[in-house]
Amino acid sequence: MRPARTAVIVPAAGRGERLGPGTPKALRSLAGQPILLHAVRAVAAARGVDMVVVAAPEDAIDETRGVLSGIEHDAQLVVVAGGETRQDSVARALLALPPDVDVVLVHDAARPLVPPEVVDRVVGAVRAGADAVIPVLSVVDTIKEVDGQGDVVHTLERGVLRAVQTPQGFRRDVLQQAHAASDGADATDDAGLVEGQGVVVATVPGAEEAFKITRPLDLVLAEAVLARRRASDGVG
Ligand code: CTP
Ligand code: MG
Repeated sequence: MRPARTAVIVPAAGRGERLGPGTPKALRSLAGQPILLHAVRAVAAARGVDMVVVAAPEDAIDETRGVLSGIEHDAQLVVVAGGETRQDSVARALLALPPDVDVVLVHDAARPLVPPEVVDRVVGAVRAGADAVIPVLSVVDTIKEVDGQGDVVHTLERGVLRAVQTPQGFRRDVLQQAHAASDGADATDDAGLVEGQGVVVATVPGAEEAFKITRPLDLVLAEAVLARRRASDGVG
């Protein structure tokens, strides 16, 4: 067995409140299989991913292990209990990393359709020397800042804005230091913590299919993407 060197942390402990009532989001079904299973398969399929650490809902650890037990991949798979916030869940997963891991990616379970090329791109950029790397897309909507009354304060210049996806990649020590320094905060994005430490965060192209399943319409889109993939694979 080759030593684990690149690990992907998959925070999957959220409730999915914006998706509506039901089981935790990562365990809800997408085309007949849990969202988490799609996500773990996608990251484990990328070249050079040696280990996947899933932060599962605290009350669904066994269920999560059961969901993941059937998948075939070469990466080592570990399930830990997630926390109250996403940042907490990532911090708990960091504790489970063996010493020989030197590159860490963090990928939302809620982005199950990320193409493996995006994962490869992020791993490649960190291996090539970046401290921190995020996949991004240009922004299609005009974005405005509003005040407490909802009145527009100003319009941001769209050309310099980017929508941020996952997986986000880091040198392990950089991510660990940022987490240690920001204890108690609730960042929705690991790169944000690292930026707070004055570390330069590089960008690579993301992919439309790496969108996050947040609201009910996103599930409709995800089902459609999978149906298109099956059609182009000549299956189903
Ligand atoms: N997450 C986590 N632990 C938490 C909260 C979120 O591991 N305490 C994970 C989610 O499972 C998800 C990712 O962080 O894969 C991105 O979060 P988000 O899309 O906000 O998911 P939820 O928090 O589940 O959704 P909502 O905010 O609508 O409840
Ligand atoms: Mg959330």
